[in-house]
Amino acid sequence: MDARAMYEAYMGWYEQAKEAWGIEVGLDFEPANVIYSGMGGSGASGDLISDWVWDRLEVPFFVVKGYHLPKWAGEDTLLISVSVSGNTEETLSVFYEGVKRGCKVVAISSGGMLERVSSKASKFIKIPKPLAPRVGLPSILYSSLKLLGSMGLVDTGEVEESIEVLRGLKESLSMGSEGNPAKELAQEIYSTTPIIYAPPLMAGVSYRFKASLSENAKMDSIVNVAPELCHNEIVAWERMNVRDYRVVMLRYEGEEPEVKERMDAIREVIEGYGHEPLEVRADAGGRLPKIVQNLYVCEMATYYSSLLRGVDPLPTKSIDRLKATLKERLDYIHRYTELGDWITP
Ligand code: F6R
Repeated sequence: MDARAMYEAYMGWYEQAKEAWGIEVGLDFEPANVIYSGMGGSGASGDLISDWVWDRLEVPFFVVKGYHLPKWAGEDTLLISVSVSGNTEETLSVFYEGVKRGCKVVAISSGGMLERVSSKASKFIKIPKPLAPRVGLPSILYSSLKLLGSMGLVDTGEVEESIEVLRGLKESLSMGSEGNPAKELAQEIYSTTPIIYAPPLMAGVSYRFKASLSENAKMDSIVNVAPELCHNEIVAWERMNVRDYRVVMLRYEGEEPEVKERMDAIREVIEGYGHEPLEVRADAGGRLPKIVQNLYVCEMATYYSSLLRGVDPLPTKSIDRLKATLKERLDYIHRYTELGDWITP
């Protein structure tokens, strides 16, 4: 079991964030749009950034989780290609397309193929190699924010407060802490199928929560975002065996009226079926600090769930197996992208 090493890595999130925020990175370019490309733990930061600033940005911010760029991507696009290992074929494929189309490309990685072909990018940001991509999230998030901030695309006024949130939470989320909210949450959900309901600001957090429950605790969960879930999923409650599930609502202080009333109303519907939803509620100041607060509590809850389930949080064998199979079947480096020709020694 590598549970201890994972724990130490999670406990290092504040330091990791600080280091990433401290990097010097800038790019003299005014994009008409931004594309953030990455899979799994590498793409998650794209969702979080989008939730935070989608309505504050002057230009569209689009997250790609797949092989291809949208048709409109071109020379006025800033493409941020993120892969912790540097070897994820979907991300390499998008990187390749971005270079070919003349996008301004920034690659973020700890090594692998993405580093080896990074002379084709305008910038390469090397992050420290984490134990697993998901525990390296602060490195990716805060180096991305530093880049976007230094280009004047994002107002980074809330960033330092969000890093302080990580510092403040470290103690209360640690193993020996009394009233640890992550441990308490884990205790409630580890033997159930959690149903995670989130308002738009917490959409990326909810999906990261689900992903880390799968990867760390090897358990499945259901995730949905309001208000959309009120137009479909809510009907399933009419025939659900409520004892098999545990609803976790991701909330925050100062919710806008349409968010608060909506989430309260969903809660009442679920209570009507005899189920008491749990709540994870961020009380930090700005929007980014709230995102980061709920993210860290949920992430640590997935770690404690792995311990309660007696599984090793580190290995993700099924991901490795699928990556190996697809590499063999597609031989993407040569057959699809000829990336091999771009390797510089
Ligand atoms: C998370 C994890 C995966 C990877 C994903 C992409 O810990 O292991 O979700 O993040 O398979 O791989 P990278 O991040 O190396 O591009």
